[in-house]
Amino acid sequence: MPSMAPISRTNNTEQHNLFNGEKPIFKNIRQQIEQQRRALPIASARRRLVEEIRKNDTLIIVGETGSGKTTQLPQYLFDAGFHRDGVIGITQPRRVAAITVAKRVAEECGITLGQKVGYAIRFEDVTSSSTKIKYMTDGLLLREALLDPYLSKYSVIVVDEAHERTVQTDVLLGLLKNIQQERSRSGDVKNGNKTLEGSMQLDKKDDSQNISILNQCNGKKCSPLKLIVMSASLDARVFSEFFGGAKAVHVQGRQYPVEVFYTHQPETDYIEATLITIFQIHLEEDPGDILVFLTGQEEIESVERLIREKLQLLPEANRNLLAFPIFSSLPSEKQMKVFMPVAIGFRKVILATNIAETSVTIPGIKYVIDPGLVKARAYQARTGIESLAIVKTSKAQALQRSGRAGREGPGKSYRLYPEYEFEKLANSTTPEIKRCNLSNVILQLKARGINDIMKFQFIEKPEGIAIMKSLESLYLLGALTEEGTLSDPLGQQMVRLPLDPLYSKALVLASQFNCLEEMLISVAMLSVESIFYAPREKLEESRKALKFFSSSEGDHLTLLNVYRASEEFLKKNAGMNSAKAEKSLRRWCKENFINSRSLKHARDIHSQILRIVQQMGLRFVSCGEDMLLFRRCLAASFFLKAALKQPDGTYRVLSSGLIVQIHPSSVLFRAKPECVVFDELVKTNNSYIRNVTRIDYLWLPELAPQLYAPEE
Ligand code: CDP
Ligand code: MG
Repeated sequence: MPSMAPISRTNNTEQHNLFNGEKPIFKNIRQQIEQQRRALPIASARRRLVEEIRKNDTLIIVGETGSGKTTQLPQYLFDAGFHRDGVIGITQPRRVAAITVAKRVAEECGITLGQKVGYAIRFEDVTSSSTKIKYMTDGLLLREALLDPYLSKYSVIVVDEAHERTVQTDVLLGLLKNIQQERSRSGDVKNGNKTLEGSMQLDKKDDSQNISILNQCNGKKCSPLKLIVMSASLDARVFSEFFGGAKAVHVQGRQYPVEVFYTHQPETDYIEATLITIFQIHLEEDPGDILVFLTGQEEIESVERLIREKLQLLPEANRNLLAFPIFSSLPSEKQMKVFMPVAIGFRKVILATNIAETSVTIPGIKYVIDPGLVKARAYQARTGIESLAIVKTSKAQALQRSGRAGREGPGKSYRLYPEYEFEKLANSTTPEIKRCNLSNVILQLKARGINDIMKFQFIEKPEGIAIMKSLESLYLLGALTEEGTLSDPLGQQMVRLPLDPLYSKALVLASQFNCLEEMLISVAMLSVESIFYAPREKLEESRKALKFFSSSEGDHLTLLNVYRASEEFLKKNAGMNSAKAEKSLRRWCKENFINSRSLKHARDIHSQILRIVQQMGLRFVSCGEDMLLFRRCLAASFFLKAALKQPDGTYRVLSSGLIVQIHPSSVLFRAKPECVVFDELVKTNNSYIRNVTRIDYLWLPELAPQLYAPEE
């Protein structure tokens, strides 16, 4: 059992009593919501904020998490009339935040979601022509900028959670800076002869398209774009400097004291330590909900199951604990559950990814459990290989996490590591742009007509070698010409798909290989986390279930089998109404040890991409029984991720020389074929490749001569 010793208290800030000791009696929900809104720290700064936004084209707003920035500011802007010049757009790094916040704001406005207030994320658009406050992911706005280079429908863009410094946020900030300058100049444009300057230079091909958009923007008297950057980190300097000394305002937050506990020793099994701490709090501490920070869906779902099992071992009276997961790919109808109050006498335990650090604030939290880990992307520019790894949080993240316990009253935070480990943590997290593969964003910038990536104004420039590597891989994929422009048709087609360039390439190629039906299912299944689950106590049964679907050719075909089996099942039950059919599909999933949430997500993604490939006019056919075609198509698209077996049973990634192993979850873990392509690299103590399929080594020089054919 991790023994907790109170070592230190975080800085005690001023205590506030929101209601002067009296709980107001609310007449109805609307009044209650109004009260809550007025009690938020940002409410007292309302007038000043609106004034500053009127005065400044760019404003940085800094305020602690939970002070009301995301939910309130857009409403203030609306009430002040900013929507009259165009939509008020707010970007979030995460889908869940965009969805839950939009729902909350729609509720606060007393309207149906999708009317005045809406949201849009990849593959899901809940907006209409009357939407004036639009929440969306930063990635989505980047894609919108491809179709509407001046983002002319927006009057204000709020880049929220900028402190997270996701790669999409960073690129967006660079782009918005350009767009803002262009828009404030657009009033001078009288005809289509204007050329764009600097990094916005368009290649010839795009000229006609962009000039017409320019006119359109001019015709509409495109108003200057207001830009607001919001951040929960107190250091606003980097943003202010980037925007030429833009003004920064600070919204005073409210924070109650949080007592921080550490373990005496490092924990060997943090999942076990997490469970023990949850139950220790549940059984010994005062009422109040618990927030646990875990690293991903798989871990969250396994802890959720373990909690349920352990509860069964407790006396009836102590089973009043309810677990709720929240992670990015959770279906949206499930996400709101974490915000709902539970029955009196029950305690909630929320199992969250780092999404709950700053993006969403869940009311009622009094206890935080922080194992100190986070799943993060890592990128080695030299090898060009990107991986997912579980790494330690930064100090800033640990402080944010603890802070979640002190929103409504004094709280407690349990860090599942010793205090001396805290001292060793990095102060802040490295911006993602410095540790990820840039192919995706570079492709988008190229499509936007920004040809010289080196000259693009990044808020923090990625390493030159990382840019070069990404350009090289896009060239090898055939998305870029030798001159570095978008190729026609492949590059142009790839840009239309909102996917990783490798997946986009696979889909475009599959239409030529006559296996688009199969590739589309693969891509949808690869886009979600963990289709299979294997609870510890039912390992044997789950293995048997997996065998039923497994293909000796590899994981891609195994995933295909699962998807098709689920379709068969639904076909058989076609007579049922949809709620009943879904319920029986969930049961089928459970019997087969398939994660029904993930499968549902994959089905949604599938239908969305299907629509796009149909619009693009790609040939949507099946290769029938001829799986060789499908595997050849995989080889032709994933050749950058091909690996060859070594005498010792490990594999060497051919494009980089990296030594890896097949992940134990793969159906090829034991078979160890000579040559494979893989989908992703995961790093723990070893480097593992996941979602692996057998290919023939000799296909590589034939299908990817640009990399594998020896030069004559
Ligand atoms: O953006 P910031 O962290 O400054 O705060 P916010 O997300 O606007 O949250 C303000 C308040 O709204 C918090 O007290 C949340 O608990 C509440 N909220 C909620 O009750 N339900 C949501 N879906 C979102 C926010
Ligand atoms: Mg926020």
